[in-house]
Amino acid sequence: MTALPNPAAATLVPLDDVDPALVEDLLDRAFEPERRQRTAYKIRGEHSDALGALSFAAIGPDDRLAGTIQCWPVALTPPGARAVPLIMVGPVAVLPEHQGAGYGQALMLASLGALSPEAPLPLMMIGDPEYYGRFFGFSAEYTGGWTVPGPCDPARLLCRALRAELLPREGMLGPWRS
Ligand SMILES: CC(C)(COP(=O)(O)OP(=O)(O)OC[C@H]1O[C@@H](n2cnc3c(N)ncnc32)[C@H](O)[C@@H]1OP(=O)(O)O)[C@@H](O)C(=O)NCCC(=O)NCCS
Repeated sequence: MTALPNPAAATLVPLDDVDPALVEDLLDRAFEPERRQRTAYKIRGEHSDALGALSFAAIGPDDRLAGTIQCWPVALTPPGARAVPLIMVGPVAVLPEHQGAGYGQALMLASLGALSPEAPLPLMMIGDPEYYGRFFGFSAEYTGGWTVPGPCDPARLLCRALRAELLPREGMLGPWRS
């Protein structure tokens, strides 16, 4: 992994402290309004709530929202076996005018730092391996047999876990249903 070049540029607050409409506006600008059709939205399901303790907002120097990260409870269900709980990271979104200033890294570090140190759940995400592998140790090495409810480049289906080699090699990703 590459050392983080500039991770401390942002003021971070819990995402729950931010007006949800502002978060939706930011996501529309960082991605596109059709983002809701993305496979990651189908994995987390329509009726899930983001994990408040792991989801953050970055406030820029102008005191306005500059970026967000959300994390979701999801499940990997192997054929004929019990579902394994995972945390889905994302979307991670930084407004175009703030990109490259360390906000993305600061948001990722906040979520990773809020995981239970004794028993961190495995993480998964759909994202650029060049970014999430380089800085945060995510990898597609053990996700090749995982199925998702929509299109997904296998190279972008990433996970990070203390012992990723022990995760099920096959299974369907979907919302966590307790
Ligand atoms: C991807 C994203 C979250 C990164 O956040 P950021 O604040 O712009 O990035 P940071 O400042 O933390 O990191 C900058 C470094 O990461 C690299 N980087 C940024 N985005 C990258 C990407 N998608 N792929 C590879 N490298 C990337 C930059 O080149 C830079 O590297 P350098 O320091 O060697 O020049 C942000 O650019 C973004 O919101 N993009 C649009 C939405 C998106 O694609 N989200 C990810 C999918 S969930």
